[in-house]
Amino acid sequence: MIFRQLFDRDSCTYTYLLGDASTGRAVLIDPVIELVDRDLQFVAELGLTLAVSLDTHVHADHVTAASVLKERTGCAIAYPSSGEAEGPCMALDHGDVLQVDAIKLLVRHTPGHTAGSATYVLGDQSMAFTGDTLLIRGCGRTDFQGGSAQTLYASVHEQIFSLPDTTLLYPGHDYKGRTVTTVGEEKIHNPRLGGGRTVEQFAEIMANLNLAYPKKIDVAVPANRQLGATAK
Ligand code: FE2
Repeated sequence: MIFRQLFDRDSCTYTYLLGDASTGRAVLIDPVIELVDRDLQFVAELGLTLAVSLDTHVHADHVTAASVLKERTGCAIAYPSSGEAEGPCMALDHGDVLQVDAIKLLVRHTPGHTAGSATYVLGDQSMAFTGDTLLIRGCGRTDFQGGSAQTLYASVHEQIFSLPDTTLLYPGHDYKGRTVTTVGEEKIHNPRLGGGRTVEQFAEIMANLNLAYPKKIDVAVPANRQLGATAK
């Protein structure tokens, strides 16, 4: 499998490119609208054809490139089947498998950061793409878009910490230059969700983060609910 991790310096978003090396068909996870040219150049240079643009959730901090990618490449768009996103896209239920040739992604619904967030687990469980459900030594905020600390805690413990300790976890963002972690590492060292912290302790931490209102939320959420189609 061809695998690349790409970074947006503005929103600190990670975009992931997964390609089947023999057929050349590829998936982009969480592409950013401003970086379509960069991503499509990568796709072309690696001899790939984009089959699917896949989002982990409706983002509040950047606009998805899904619709622009569809216009430019004819790729399909896929989202978790939460009703958060509206429009012509594949709706992925919990337990579904998104398969693009040899690339198999198992869909695990992991609400809590948003009501419709999902984690995508590679078929052999060697990697998982957690979106903002679980970040490296952190997690996504739970105070917007149907978020809930209790729900996030359950999602992480039941759907992510149940993977093998060696599973590599690739998050939707990192703000400190870190790129990847593992299930085993986060179970021990995640200061919010690991180290035996209880759901009550986690809810207390999340209730006292005092985070600023997300800069782009009023533009990004409506645009992303339409698969990024209304933004330019
Ligand atoms: Fe997010």
